[in-house]
Amino acid sequence: HTVESVIVAIDGPSGTGKSSTSKAVAAKLGLRYLDTGAQYRAITWWMITNGVDVEDAQAVAVAAAKPVIVSGTDPAAPSISVDGLDAAGPIRTQEVTSKVSAVSAVPEVRTLITDLQRSIAAQADGGIVVEGRDIGTTVLPDADLKVFLTASPEARAARRSGELKGADVHATKEALIKRDAADSSRKTSPLAKADDAVEVDTTELTLDQVIECVVTLVEEKRAAV
Ligand code: DC
Repeated sequence: HTVESVIVAIDGPSGTGKSSTSKAVAAKLGLRYLDTGAQYRAITWWMITNGVDVEDAQAVAVAAAKPVIVSGTDPAAPSISVDGLDAAGPIRTQEVTSKVSAVSAVPEVRTLITDLQRSIAAQADGGIVVEGRDIGTTVLPDADLKVFLTASPEARAARRSGELKGADVHATKEALIKRDAADSSRKTSPLAKADDAVEVDTTELTLDQVIECVVTLVEEKRAAV
C-alpha cells in the first residue's frame, strides 16, 4: 500500500474499546472506518426478523446471501443498513447480541461478509481502519498495521455495563466471557491475535491513551514506508 492508503486492522474481544478507538483513530488520521461486528449483527438481525432459526447452521447458510448489507464508512457518522432499512438501532439489542456468535460461526456467512469487507477496504480512498475479530488474521492479512486490543475481563465487563446504562456487571461479565469463548473457539477464523499484531493491554489505560498509542503506531508505520 502507498503511504496515502494505509490499512489498519484492529482486533480483540468485546469491551476493549475497539470501536471507540477505531473511530477516533480513523477520524484523526482522515481514514475511513469499518465496524465488521456491525455487519455480523446486521445479518443476525435479518435472520431473526425473517424467522430463521439461528441454531440451525444449515438454514442460516442457505439464507446468508439474501440480505443486502450496506456499511457507511465515515468515522464521524458510521451507518449500517439491511435491505435499505437503517439497522443501527436494532443490531444493538440483547437478542441480537446473544445470537450473533451462532450466526457468525457459520462458514457461508463468514465467506460472504469477508468478501464484502475486502471490497470495502479495497475501495477506501485514503485508507481505512477495520475493526473486528479476524481482520489481521483472515480478512486483511496484508494490513499495514495490526493491533490486538486486550483488557482484563473485569475491565471489559465494567465498560460494557457502563455502555448498557447500569446493567448488572456480573451478568454482563458472564455473557461477555461466554461470547468471547464462542468467538475464540469456532472453527472458521476465530478471534485471534495475528503473529505480527501489536498487542495493547488497555486495562489500565484511558480511551484517550489507547487512541494516542494507536495513532503513534500508524504514524510510525507511515514514516517507515
Ligand atoms: O464487535 P461486536 O461485539 O459488535 O461483534 C459482534 C459479534 O460479531 C462478535 O461476538 C463476533 C462477531 N464478529 C466476528 O465473528 N468477526 C468479526 N470480524 C467481527 C465480529
